[in-house]
Amino acid sequence: MGSDGEAGAVYDSVLDAVGATPLVRLRRIVPEGSAQVWVKTEWTSPGGSVKDRAALAMVLDAEESGALRPGGTIVEGTSGNTGIGLAMVAAARGYRAVFVVPDRTTAEKQALLRAYGAEVVRTPGLVPQDDPRHVRRLAGRIAAGTPGGWLADQYDNPANPGVHERTTGPEIWAQTGGRVTHLVAGVGTGGTLTGAGRYLRRHGVTVVAADPWTYRYGGGDGSPYHVEAVGHYLHPLTGTDTWPRVYDPAVHDRVERIGDGDSLRTVRSLARSEGLLVGGSSGTAVAAALRVAAEAGPDAVVVAVLPDSGRIYLSTYFDDDWLTRRGFLDAVAGPRVRDTVGPYAPGLLVAPATTTVAALLAALDRAGPGGAVPVVLPRETDAVTWSAPDVIGSVRPADLVGLRPDERVGAHAGPPPATVGHGESTAAAAARLDAAAVGRHDAVLVLVDGRAVTQVRRDRLGGRPA
Ligand SMILES: Cc1ncc(COP(=O)(O)O)c(C=O)c1O
Repeated sequence: MGSDGEAGAVYDSVLDAVGATPLVRLRRIVPEGSAQVWVKTEWTSPGGSVKDRAALAMVLDAEESGALRPGGTIVEGTSGNTGIGLAMVAAARGYRAVFVVPDRTTAEKQALLRAYGAEVVRTPGLVPQDDPRHVRRLAGRIAAGTPGGWLADQYDNPANPGVHERTTGPEIWAQTGGRVTHLVAGVGTGGTLTGAGRYLRRHGVTVVAADPWTYRYGGGDGSPYHVEAVGHYLHPLTGTDTWPRVYDPAVHDRVERIGDGDSLRTVRSLARSEGLLVGGSSGTAVAAALRVAAEAGPDAVVVAVLPDSGRIYLSTYFDDDWLTRRGFLDAVAGPRVRDTVGPYAPGLLVAPATTTVAALLAALDRAGPGGAVPVVLPRETDAVTWSAPDVIGSVRPADLVGLRPDERVGAHAGPPPATVGHGESTAAAAARLDAAAVGRHDAVLVLVDGRAVTQVRRDRLGGRPA
């Protein structure tokens, strides 16, 4: 048992059990010579995540200010843990709750909100921020149009970082007896890092943000990644970029940028080697913490905040097939796709959807003859590049004939090519492609750590040519 664990605490309400989460030392995945690494187990909170703290604090704050009154309705635009936290608080304090979620939100997540008695309103996920159907806009309208409605607004609500400054930071300080030297946390709204970081900085602690590799907080190009709930990418359709008001970039000393492969392999070893079943953003935080710990040396004490449990990611991060098909894991038996493909070509020509026809034709001229060009989500520049982000479609040179030079290629993209993981067994990949009968392409994209790095002809994998 832990040092404090005789009989367990006794509470009047489930809400009293929010916060005061245990701190657990990592024993087996921290290399010799590194700093101690401890994790703040936020998933042990009754709603299952770090967001219980913010949810409860925002509600209490709104009750105090009179913005939320008895019989009122809590409204938020969220598909994630904040919704679950708010749904729990609403149930325990007798409020109605309405959540606006993007239509791609999994059935399980919607069911989780409804299980607490909340209402769920679905809206298209991929619309510009000024569209009335946009998640946050629609939530604002519902709150304004509902008598007694109150919008929680976690991205701009100061009670969100405030609770971490009042509780998470001081808890970490007390639990380490003031020995903590580094705090590492991911940034979603920025509430955790800004709040806990503010408190701990005042005590001389170095504050480190852990961010997915391409995300904006760490200076990336804004293309999306697989790890959910942390980081910030460019709006998929418009390329616009609005940072949450609660995130204060002045609080952290630096940002560690962590690739998906690193995050997800760390999640796997936390489960298999430490007995900690946690979500993807916890992998990002621990991967960054291990880096910091190696640098800081044995006298330092690093604390990473782990936001949620792995139970809601069993069909993704903990599914070996899911990982292998995306190039995160090798198949048990070979030969594998990368043995067949041989050394990768220098890069894969990709075009953001907002690239003009003229720019793509010029790039194709420079690159020499090739097949279809994968079309990717917009990002900071519309330039055709050689990197390998998220593929949403493809254009063949023939598709560009007769188009105006200033037209955007995204509007003329056909379906994306099929993908295979670089460590997938060649036989399994070929069988899967045959079964999927992906129409117009004679090439497939090869994924390494979730990102396309090259194309290969389908017949080289031994399947039927398209
Ligand atoms: C799983 C997970 N990780 C990390 C975060 C980021 O926390 P914050 O919003 O405090 O930055 C969230 C927030 O929703 C989350 O759900």
